[in-house]
This record gives sequence, structure tokens and C-alpha cells, in this order.
Amino acid sequence: MQLIDQYLRKVNYLRVSVTDRCDLRCVYCMKEKMQFLTRKDILTLEEIERLCDNFIELGVEKIRLTGGEPLVRNDIIKLIEKLNNKKEKTNLKEITLTTNGTLLKKYAKLLKLNGINRINVSLDTINPEKYNKITRFGNIEKVFDGINEALDNNIKIKINTVVIKDFNENEIEELINWTSNKKIDLTFIEVMPMEETDISREYQFVSLSDTFSKLDKIYSFSKIDYSTGGPARFYTSDLVSNKIGFISPLTNNFCASCNRVRISSTGKLFMCLGQNDFVDFREIMRKDYSDDYIKEKIKFALNIKPKQHDFMIGEKINKYMKRHMNVTGG
Ligand code: 5AD
Ligand code: SF4
Repeated sequence: MQLIDQYLRKVNYLRVSVTDRCDLRCVYCMKEKMQFLTRKDILTLEEIERLCDNFIELGVEKIRLTGGEPLVRNDIIKLIEKLNNKKEKTNLKEITLTTNGTLLKKYAKLLKLNGINRINVSLDTINPEKYNKITRFGNIEKVFDGINEALDNNIKIKINTVVIKDFNENEIEELINWTSNKKIDLTFIEVMPMEETDISREYQFVSLSDTFSKLDKIYSFSKIDYSTGGPARFYTSDLVSNKIGFISPLTNNFCASCNRVRISSTGKLFMCLGQNDFVDFREIMRKDYSDDYIKEKIKFALNIKPKQHDFMIGEKINKYMKRHMNVTGG
């Protein structure tokens, strides 16, 4: 079984936001004062599992758990265990996680035991004061400890860094060297105009095309034919021992090869990160509908998956999504 959308893209990758909550408040992601959802709004573990089952039966092979911060949900390991058990009997091949890393020290071993072999850690700086500032109150030591614990448990780590104007632009080379020394891959990401935060997106946005050109003069990158199935273009250089990826939705549209859809923690299926349309599954799950009905609804959603995102950042135009990143994860 395969899920094919109206533009003939094969969708085999599902990202599931398991909570909108987070133990940090990154300034470009959330406002300082956020109204979080209550428990009854959020899908239960059983509801998430049932939705995943239907997607897997339709051809999804890879599931990424995101948030908010997925590790703040207390039944997360149970969910991972249940999903991991499906790998033997179904199409499901991989479960991964996007995390801010603060709770990795506690969870790395359990994650590994339950089949997680790769994790993306979001980290925008390696400077403790700057980290504390961008996350509004975070302690970077926890993240360093978490990363080391994960590496000790043989979990492959990739660092995701959002490049932010006047914040970490001058730290890019340091980040490259730091990850290269640790032999972990690094991906840079452009700020996307999700729902407004306390600072205007124009004051956050850096064009990664420009960043790439500057870096290329130093590193003389060569493009490598490596893909994580995602939108990042990867490069390497004689000067480093890792892969450096660039995700630039605004300066380099990559939608033609999009292979994913996203479920919010409340059960809304977003067919595109950069569009506002969704199909709501929560009420379907909570009323007496069959799995066949759920599958029909998924196929319907795929048929209206948009051709491309609608992101725009400019002096006059700021096209915002009506939700923060913590609703659907990155
Ligand atoms: N634009 C780009 N990336 C964002 N993230 C959060 N908000 C934004 C945004 N507006 C990133 C986080 C993390 C991932 C979940 O999404 O830094 O890497
Ligand atoms: Fe939390 Fe990630 Fe958003 Fe930062 S970017 S507040 S770590 S969800």
C-alpha cells in the first residue's frame, strides 16, 4: 500500500506532535506567555497509536515524534515501545524523535532500548549565556549532558540550528567545528513565519542562501548525495568530518519532493507545515467511526495536500501561519 498525493508525491513519513508543551520558550518559537492545551484536548496514547496504525497500513514507514518537547509527555516511552513493537509486523521501519535535549540524560537509555537509533537535537548556540537568552531560561549543561548520554548509548545525533539574525550568525563556524569534532551532523534551518512571536520575523530572518555562499568561501563545500528523506541539502568539506545540511524553505523551495504530513497533539492533520489547512481527526477518533472511515479520511486529506508552502517574510509581507511551531513540531 502506498499513499500518493494529488501531485504524485509518495507520502511515507508521518510526524506526530505528542504535546504542545515545552520546558523551554525559544523566542522565535513561542511567546513568553503561552496558553497551553488541557489534557482532554490532547490525543490519548491509544488515539495516537490508532491513528499511526491506520497511517502505517496505508504505507507510512517512518514516524517522527515531536512537540513541543516530546519528552515532557510522561507516557512517551510507552508510546515508543508500542510503536517499536510494530516494526516487526508492519511496514514501519523507523521511529525518530526531535527534542531540545534537556531530558535526554534521563531518557537516552530507555529510548535506545525501545528502538530509537537516531535523534534530532535542536540547539541554536553552544554559548551558555546565549542559550539561556534564546530559550528564555534554559541551562545548556543539561543539553550537553543529554547529547553525551545519547552518544554513549549509540544513538546517532543530528543537531538542528535555526539561524537567527544578530544572534548566532557569527557562531556558525564555531558550531560547524564543534559538531565536526564530535562527528555529529549539523543542519541549519531558516526561520519560518509560523504564528507571531514577541519579535517580528523580519528581525529574525537570515537567508541561508547568503549564509551558504559565505561559508562556501571558507569550506569549499562539495554536495553529497545523502538524504534523510527530508528537505535538507547536505554538503561536506575537507575541513570537517561531518555532514552539513541546509534547510531553506524560503530561499530554496523544496516542496516538489515533500514526503510527509503532520499530526498536531490535538489530532489535526496538517498536510503542509506552511499552510493553514487541516483535517481534524480527533472527533472522528472519539465518535464511533471505523478504521476504514479513518483511512478514507486520510486519503481525502492526501488528495488536498497543497503543492507548496505559503511562507513569506519581507519588509511589507509577513505571511503568518495561524499556529506556533509547537503545535505541529518542526
Ligand atoms: N522557524 C524555524 N524553525 C523553528 N523551530 C521552532 N520555531 C521555528 C520557526 N519559526 C524549530 C526549533 C526546532 C524545531 C522543532 O523547529 O528550533 O529545531
Ligand atoms: Fe521548545 Fe523547541 Fe519551541 Fe524551543 S523551539 S520552545 S525547545 S518547542
